[in-house]
Amino acid sequence: MAKLYVNPGNPKSKINRELYGNFSEHLGRCIYEGLYVGEDSPIPNTNGMRNDVVSALKEMGLPVLRWPGGCFADEYHWMDGIGPKESRKKIVNTHWGGVVEDNSFGTHEFMELCRQIGCKTYINGNVGSGTVREMSEWVEYMTFSGVSPMADLRTKNGHEEPYTVNYFGVGNENWGCGGNMRAEYYADEYRRYQTYVRNYYNDKKIYKIACGPNSGDFNWTDTLMKVAGRYMDGLSLHYYTVPGDTWEHKGSATEFDEKEYFVTLRKAYYMEELILRHGAIMDRYDPKKKVGLIIDEWGTWFDVEPGTNPGFLYQQNTMRDAMVAAINLNLFNKHSDRVKMANIAQLVNVLQAVILTEGEKMLLTPTYHVFKMFRGHQDATLLESSLATEEIGMEKDKIPNLTESVSRAEDGTLTLTLANLSLDTAYPIETVFAEGTPECVSGTILTGAMNAHNTFDAPETVRTADFTEAVLDNGAIRFTIPACSVVSLHINMK
Ligand code: AHR
Repeated sequence: MAKLYVNPGNPKSKINRELYGNFSEHLGRCIYEGLYVGEDSPIPNTNGMRNDVVSALKEMGLPVLRWPGGCFADEYHWMDGIGPKESRKKIVNTHWGGVVEDNSFGTHEFMELCRQIGCKTYINGNVGSGTVREMSEWVEYMTFSGVSPMADLRTKNGHEEPYTVNYFGVGNENWGCGGNMRAEYYADEYRRYQTYVRNYYNDKKIYKIACGPNSGDFNWTDTLMKVAGRYMDGLSLHYYTVPGDTWEHKGSATEFDEKEYFVTLRKAYYMEELILRHGAIMDRYDPKKKVGLIIDEWGTWFDVEPGTNPGFLYQQNTMRDAMVAAINLNLFNKHSDRVKMANIAQLVNVLQAVILTEGEKMLLTPTYHVFKMFRGHQDATLLESSLATEEIGMEKDKIPNLTESVSRAEDGTLTLTLANLSLDTAYPIETVFAEGTPECVSGTILTGAMNAHNTFDAPETVRTADFTEAVLDNGAIRFTIPACSVVSLHINMK
């Protein structure tokens, strides 16, 4: 019997709803086909946005969306994507597949998408190939409400009211595709560019995010915090879970054995070390944790599906991805004192997507279900909890068998999310409370074989079910969690 201790008397940090954010880039079929099909499409849409996808994202509770990249952001010139569609520039998407980008999805369309979903906006600006003036004018175009050249242009393009920009990224991966800069150089550039990301409204300040490290580049974090820490609200971190040892052989999304399953989960757990080590460096410069760690690209990265464009990064999504999602989301909750936003890559049809589409068809991936099951954590307060785990896995790929986190919402409801990463062992769990008594419990489960996934012919192979196993027993909650499954419980306390 594994004991899970929960202490409702020890509330910890707030779990920002933005930890459940997502990322959409002009890459493959994410924006075009996945989200935006245009007003004239036979696929049901509202102002060009797919109705089926928007409604699924609302149900999942998507809180914030990052756009337009990724590597695309540092090649994107926002003026190409405004004004009458027929006169927008057609360009080559050099980074992703060399396809024609007709710019029919631009600033106004992104804002309309976020309006329909009801989520916050995270715009990523161009430092690598853009100018300070260009970035500054984009912010003015989107957010200024008075008389100015950019506000007038926005009005001329059909939107008199200013838009809300909640988050603004000053460049993306500037150590790589965003200009191959050195940390010292970028830190100075960040200071300069962010100066002109003006706050045109008093009540809603733009949260400015500096480009942070690639995975374990601790020197980058140290330099950025030292040189530019006081000019930023957030520092990003990018880390992908790639089972293979080389980019040429990352591993298949669906064809893998037990060894590769455990390699993948071990690599997913590396996220905790990254949060702790980057967090420790940030603590040295920012002990009050004013600067958020913004994990705005994370998730699995496998070989593309056979026969698809290698530049489109289209991959399937299995129960293994569900486990990676559960590990990461529980970690983000547990470290929500420093981690203030996270954006899985990417929303639709790219990398660890929550939704896949094919023509008019749409399916929800196992990762989608995990995000929806964890929804109760959004804006809740993390509670102290601990669980005795045991080591499982193969050879050097050892991981804890269980991962969990517990939070309390404003209305007092507790959400407990737990994943059993074992492929063959179910574990009995006894949840005990240091304070208070559970009055009623209900739950949801997602379970299946490690490579189970949904296809357009069988879209409901992996889906959630009610979890009725959890019973109240003398102030505790008992249940058995099956192998390879994710469970979420909603608990009302007396
Ligand atoms: O998400 C795909 C790519 O991964 C992004 O464009 C880039 O920022 C990262 O390297």
